[in-house]
Amino acid sequence: LDDQKVKVTFVLNDGRRLESEAKVGDSLLDVVVNNELNIKGFGACEGTVTCSTCHVILKPEDFKKLPEEASDEERDMLDLAFGLSETSRLGCQIILSKEQDGLEVRVPETINDARG
Ligand code: FES
Repeated sequence: LDDQKVKVTFVLNDGRRLESEAKVGDSLLDVVVNNELNIKGFGACEGTVTCSTCHVILKPEDFKKLPEEASDEERDMLDLAFGLSETSRLGCQIILSKEQDGLEVRVPETINDARG
């Protein structure tokens, strides 16, 4: 077993489950890009923390396991995201480690590009 690999599932609002493989050190945005996942509008600013289109909602237990809390920058952007929840993060700011293997995140219904 390759321990540099983790599994991540994106659950879309229409019920689609996009299961993908990622490398430790990838961000969730990298996972979407590298696997060419078809999530409309996701990651518009390419990880420069200026769009909030990479908003994902985590399960509470996964949210707690994340090594880093959101930065002020990330928090400001999240405030502009639609459907914000207590376990929301920006996908481009979640860096995968082995602990996140099996992570499942929800992609909210409406994606808001904060760049206007
Ligand atoms: Fe734009 Fe994450 S990709 S904030």
